[in-house]
Amino acid sequence: MGFDLDINEKGNLSIGGADATELAEEYGTPLYVIDEMRVRDNYRRVYSAFTKYYSDLQLFYACKANTNLAVMRILQEEGSGIDAVSPGEIYTALLAGFDPQKVLFTGNNVKNEELQFAADSGVRINVDSVSQLHRLAQIVDPADFKISFRVNPMVGAGHHEHCITGGEMSKFGVMEKEAVDVYKMALELGFEPVGIHTHIGSGILDPEPFKLAVQTLMDIAGDVAQNTEVDFEFIDFGGGLGIPYTPEEHELDLDKFAGEIVGLFKDKLGQYGIGKPTMCLEPGRYIVGDASYLLARVNTVKQSYRKFVGVDAGFNTLLRPSMYGSYHHIVVANKPQAPEVEAIDVAGNVCESGDLFARDRPLPEIEEGDLIAIMNAGAYAFSMASQYNSRPRPAEVLVKEGESDVVRERETFADVLNKQNVPVRLLK
Ligand code: LLP
Repeated sequence: MGFDLDINEKGNLSIGGADATELAEEYGTPLYVIDEMRVRDNYRRVYSAFTKYYSDLQLFYACKANTNLAVMRILQEEGSGIDAVSPGEIYTALLAGFDPQKVLFTGNNVKNEELQFAADSGVRINVDSVSQLHRLAQIVDPADFKISFRVNPMVGAGHHEHCITGGEMSKFGVMEKEAVDVYKMALELGFEPVGIHTHIGSGILDPEPFKLAVQTLMDIAGDVAQNTEVDFEFIDFGGGLGIPYTPEEHELDLDKFAGEIVGLFKDKLGQYGIGKPTMCLEPGRYIVGDASYLLARVNTVKQSYRKFVGVDAGFNTLLRPSMYGSYHHIVVANKPQAPEVEAIDVAGNVCESGDLFARDRPLPEIEEGDLIAIMNAGAYAFSMASQYNSRPRPAEVLVKEGESDVVRERETFADVLNKQNVPVRLLK
């Protein structure tokens, strides 16, 4: 069990063929390091697993996981589409070169200006509520305007309560029982509904709830197809595919998972005579999660009532441990094979007690000056980073075959202060 690490001839952690300690020297810390081939391999693995069983597949990379333009560009090259949740993500996707028709905008609590922006951008709109449907009808000419609906199938799953998006407590989508009615409403308004969508949650390693959601969504789609004039061009099961964060967790058996999902999908297509729509999935974490490391320098080893290892990153750079209690594996990049000698706390530099990357984590002997690499920092790490405590956000570098490029420069104090104005009356 455990994670496979690349270790170079110097005995240091290697990321995409580059020595982590040299990257830290060159670019400073904290630093996000993205392994390009890992992103590509992850994408290809999902794509080929599913197309083995059903050829008409479109992946929409959920870019909320990581909106770095270089990452988006890589996925554009791979043939992905984009799941966008905001005008900013639509803007980024178009800048990265995605065809607007391969961008699906799934907003929630969307305001009219945002609907207008999405419509003007030419992206596809996945409607989340009856309110949004009616407002969209005022904003665009519904004739020939293709839409889809996000449906809450009353099934939810996820690694944390905050990340479960199906079920009666969830704000997302239209209710299962109103599905037929909302499609009828859309038709009456003149829209052309062509798709159905769900996303039940994030960080799913157990296939069962996902399979249940697929079955339920297909039954809902069948109901819609049989009771309305809707002809489905696509059926989208959302994202949520989990990755192992702890050494004990098991990877999803992707081939088995894909076979089962497609099996259910095809059975239901036949049962309801839905034809051959495009099958869509929206993986975010699975594509980028394990492709990045967050490098941080140990600057303090402190024996207080407990022993703390203090580093120069904090929850401003990786919020997941503080926000969800998430485990992120830590290796010492300059001695990744050193034996674990004690269980200690790894703390960040944010001025809050909750700013901990790990509590009681078995780690090797750590000294000031060591470099730690926090694993699985590719998804929901930089994209959830902040400037809290007036700390500029770190740089991101992309590595491939040992070569590195800065794909986001380290911010400066000026960036932190950018857009602030002091009223003249306070300058006297
Ligand atoms: N599609 C939709 C409509 C979504 O809302 C999401 C994630 C995804 C796809 C992608 O889910 P993924 O494949 O990455 O699990 N900040 C949390 C995760 C929040 C996910 C929100 N929606 C975390 O750090 O775990």
